[in-house]
Amino acid sequence: MKLSARAHSIEPFHALAIGQAAAGMESAGQRVIKLSIGEPDFGAPAAVREAMRTVMDGRPLPYTPALGISELREAIANFYLNRHGVIVDPARIAITSGASAALLLALAATTDVGDEVLMADPSYPCNREMVNAFGGVVRLAPTSPATRYQLSVEALLDTWTDATNAVMIASPSNPTGTSIEPTELAAMCQIARERNAWRIVDEIYLDLADDAADGSTAQTVLAHDPDAIVISSFSKYFSMTGWRLGWAVLPEELVEVFERMSMHYFLCASAPVQFAALAAFSPEALAECESRKVELLERRTLVLATLEGSRLQVHAIPDGAFYIYIDVSATGLDSWTFCERALAEAHVALTPGRDFATETADTHVRLSYAASREDLIEACRRLSEFVATLPEVRA
Ligand SMILES: Cc1ncc(COP(=O)(O)O)c(C=O)c1O
Repeated sequence: MKLSARAHSIEPFHALAIGQAAAGMESAGQRVIKLSIGEPDFGAPAAVREAMRTVMDGRPLPYTPALGISELREAIANFYLNRHGVIVDPARIAITSGASAALLLALAATTDVGDEVLMADPSYPCNREMVNAFGGVVRLAPTSPATRYQLSVEALLDTWTDATNAVMIASPSNPTGTSIEPTELAAMCQIARERNAWRIVDEIYLDLADDAADGSTAQTVLAHDPDAIVISSFSKYFSMTGWRLGWAVLPEELVEVFERMSMHYFLCASAPVQFAALAAFSPEALAECESRKVELLERRTLVLATLEGSRLQVHAIPDGAFYIYIDVSATGLDSWTFCERALAEAHVALTPGRDFATETADTHVRLSYAASREDLIEACRRLSEFVATLPEVRA
């Protein structure tokens, strides 16, 4: 029997090979420090876990409405108001099985065969595969340390073609942990809007972005572009990766489309998880998430301090999420070999750039600092010992 062309062309997660090798080493009794993992190490807030215990009291838990339970849509709208100062009509919020389902629905709703979707190189790998799944064409915009490996107005204009139908942006980004300045983001959105293109803005790491210098919270794109398609999730800020719950804030014209598509593709997101997630907005849970954000910032500071001056170079200091995108070219190794050898010799797992990028595929690795401080200190020590074994590279 034949497989679809899509099945043949879907890329593997290269990090998987590193993960499998790490698992093999661990089962052989070695202590591997995994800084390759894109999820917080805290687990769901205590109030959410408690709420889940209550929800699982034997009640029947039928399907929910396709766009989610109204209480949760309202709670998210309140969160936008209280945290970000923007008014969002709960009717424009669609609850999904993680940001992944929201991204898939956004692309399903907007992409026809041949439509181009513009995004930064590097960016979150699944976006490319989701665009491909709908016959869209990925257009990667080059980035550089000057734009902190993020999309910029200049790169957007240079990469734009008549077929550009959507721009996908993540701020802060995976794998770089860097954000786009609000004015730059607003300008890009305005250009795209004027050219009749969708703006799909992934804010999954927004609440893990550093506060502005004046102490204000990082701004949502909705403050500038209320009709952007905004993607978010309980996975990162609320540390609920395995719970599989996210949302999209939609422009009016997409709400009914999303509802139909959600119904056909998913019926609804998990009912018990939706009910339990209401507790994520309780004052205790929010306080817990805020203190974790502070902890992540301290871990970042710790890792950056150890990397400073080493051959593991950080050209763009992150300001959010829990990633550092590191240029390893001064070690003389390409990033894939670096990851393989760092695992084999230092027992530290990292993610190679080829999962995210074309331009920096062979030069960069992603380090996730969502690990205990103790592990981070030990990993940095091991990495620095490993790098010291590598011959100096002549410029
Ligand atoms: C930028 C970005 N968007 C979306 C996702 C998917 O998240 P979720 O767990 O909510 O499906 C991830 C996960 O790592 C991510 O990094």
